[in-house]
Amino acid sequence: GFPLEVDLAPLAEGQVIKVFWRGQPIFINHRTPKEVESAQTADWKSMRDPQPDSARVKPGHEQWLVVSAICTHLGCIPTEHQGNYDGWFCQCHGSQYDSSGRIRLGPAPLNLALVPYKFTADDKILIG
Ligand code: FES
Repeated sequence: GFPLEVDLAPLAEGQVIKVFWRGQPIFINHRTPKEVESAQTADWKSMRDPQPDSARVKPGHEQWLVVSAICTHLGCIPTEHQGNYDGWFCQCHGSQYDSSGRIRLGPAPLNLALVPYKFTADDKILIG
Protein backbone atom coordinates (compact mmCIF):
# COMPACT_ATOMS: atom_id res chain seq x y z
CA GLY A 1 0.00 0.00 0.00
CA PHE A 2 0.94 3.63 -0.30
CA PRO A 3 2.25 5.57 2.66
CA LEU A 4 -0.09 8.25 3.96
CA GLU A 5 1.19 11.69 4.88
CA VAL A 6 -0.69 13.48 7.64
CA ASP A 7 -0.25 17.14 8.52
CA LEU A 8 -0.54 17.40 12.30
CA ALA A 9 -0.43 21.20 12.46
CA PRO A 10 -4.24 21.67 12.41
CA LEU A 11 -4.82 19.32 15.34
CA ALA A 12 -5.50 21.18 18.55
CA GLU A 13 -4.26 19.79 21.84
CA GLY A 14 -6.80 17.27 23.06
CA GLN A 15 -8.09 16.57 19.56
CA VAL A 16 -8.40 13.05 18.16
CA ILE A 17 -8.85 12.39 14.46
CA LYS A 18 -9.34 9.26 12.44
CA VAL A 19 -7.50 8.67 9.19
CA PHE A 20 -7.62 5.67 6.87
CA TRP A 21 -4.56 3.74 5.81
CA ARG A 22 -4.83 0.50 3.83
CA GLY A 23 -8.57 0.72 4.40
CA GLN A 24 -8.08 0.63 8.15
CA PRO A 25 -9.05 3.37 10.60
CA ILE A 26 -6.24 4.88 12.64
CA PHE A 27 -6.50 7.26 15.57
CA ILE A 28 -4.18 10.21 15.87
CA ASN A 29 -4.39 11.77 19.30
CA HIS A 30 -2.78 15.12 20.09
CA ARG A 31 -2.47 14.30 23.75
CA THR A 32 -2.80 16.93 26.44
CA PRO A 33 -0.04 17.23 29.07
CA LYS A 34 -2.42 15.51 31.49
CA GLU A 35 -2.97 12.61 29.07
CA VAL A 36 0.78 12.26 28.53
CA GLU A 37 1.42 12.30 32.25
CA SER A 38 -1.21 9.69 33.07
CA ALA A 39 0.08 7.49 30.22
CA GLN A 40 3.65 7.75 31.51
CA THR A 41 2.96 7.30 35.21
CA ALA A 42 0.42 4.46 35.08
CA ASP A 43 1.67 1.14 36.45
CA TRP A 44 2.08 -0.59 33.08
CA LYS A 45 3.63 -3.76 34.49
CA SER A 46 0.32 -4.71 36.03
CA MET A 47 -1.64 -4.20 32.81
CA ARG A 48 -3.16 -6.99 30.72
CA ASP A 49 -0.91 -6.23 27.75
CA PRO A 50 2.05 -4.68 29.56
CA GLN A 51 3.79 -1.96 27.62
CA PRO A 52 5.33 1.33 28.77
CA ASP A 53 4.04 4.46 27.08
CA SER A 54 7.59 5.07 25.84
CA ALA A 55 7.28 1.97 23.63
CA ARG A 56 4.13 3.36 22.01
CA VAL A 57 5.20 6.87 21.02
CA LYS A 58 8.19 8.43 19.30
CA PRO A 59 10.92 9.98 21.50
CA GLY A 60 10.60 13.77 21.50
CA HIS A 61 7.04 13.56 20.17
CA GLU A 62 5.33 12.20 23.27
CA GLN A 63 2.26 14.35 22.72
CA TRP A 64 1.33 12.29 19.65
CA LEU A 65 -0.28 8.86 19.80
CA VAL A 66 -0.87 7.02 16.52
CA VAL A 67 -2.66 3.68 16.88
CA SER A 68 -5.15 1.41 15.17
CA ALA A 69 -8.75 2.44 15.80
CA ILE A 70 -9.96 -1.17 15.87
CA CYS A 71 -10.95 -2.60 19.24
CA THR A 72 -8.92 -5.76 19.83
CA HIS A 73 -11.98 -7.59 21.14
CA LEU A 74 -14.27 -7.89 18.13
CA GLY A 75 -13.35 -4.98 15.95
CA CYS A 76 -15.64 -2.11 16.85
CA ILE A 77 -14.32 1.43 16.80
CA PRO A 78 -14.02 2.84 20.31
CA THR A 79 -15.07 6.38 21.19
CA GLU A 80 -12.41 8.84 22.32
CA HIS A 81 -12.48 10.89 25.51
CA GLN A 82 -14.69 8.38 27.24
CA GLY A 83 -14.14 5.88 30.01
CA ASN A 84 -12.07 6.13 33.14
CA TYR A 85 -8.55 6.31 31.70
CA ASP A 86 -8.32 9.52 29.63
CA GLY A 87 -8.67 7.36 26.53
CA TRP A 88 -11.30 5.35 24.68
CA PHE A 89 -14.46 3.47 25.48
CA CYS A 90 -15.76 0.72 23.20
CA GLN A 91 -19.54 0.89 23.05
CA CYS A 92 -19.83 -2.70 21.85
CA HIS A 93 -18.86 -4.58 25.02
CA GLY A 94 -17.36 -1.96 27.29
CA SER A 95 -13.62 -2.24 26.82
CA GLN A 96 -11.70 0.78 28.07
CA TYR A 97 -8.35 1.96 26.75
CA ASP A 98 -6.10 4.56 28.33
CA SER A 99 -4.43 7.63 26.80
CA SER A 100 -1.72 5.34 25.44
CA GLY A 101 -4.31 3.07 23.82
CA ARG A 102 -3.60 0.29 26.32
CA ILE A 103 -6.38 -2.02 27.38
CA ARG A 104 -7.36 -1.32 30.98
CA LEU A 105 -10.84 -2.76 31.47
CA GLY A 106 -13.32 -4.99 29.68
CA PRO A 107 -13.00 -7.99 27.38
CA ALA A 108 -10.43 -6.81 24.83
CA PRO A 109 -7.22 -8.87 25.11
CA LEU A 110 -4.68 -6.45 23.68
CA ASN A 111 -3.73 -2.81 23.42
CA LEU A 112 -4.80 -0.84 20.37
CA ALA A 113 -2.27 -1.94 17.78
CA LEU A 114 0.68 0.22 16.87
CA VAL A 115 1.03 1.23 13.24
CA PRO A 116 4.27 1.95 11.39
CA TYR A 117 4.95 5.66 10.94
CA LYS A 118 7.68 8.23 11.20
CA PHE A 119 7.98 11.96 11.62
CA THR A 120 9.12 13.69 8.43
CA ALA A 121 8.93 17.14 10.07
CA ASP A 122 7.95 18.42 13.49
CA ASP A 123 4.29 18.45 12.47
CA LYS A 124 4.14 15.84 9.73
CA ILE A 125 4.05 12.07 9.81
CA LEU A 126 4.21 9.41 7.19
CA ILE A 127 2.14 6.32 7.97
CA GLY A 128 3.21 3.10 6.27
FE1 FES B 1 -14.81 -3.55 21.63
FE2 FES B 1 -16.08 -5.87 22.10
S1 FES B 1 -15.55 -4.99 20.19
S2 FES B 1 -15.38 -4.40 23.52
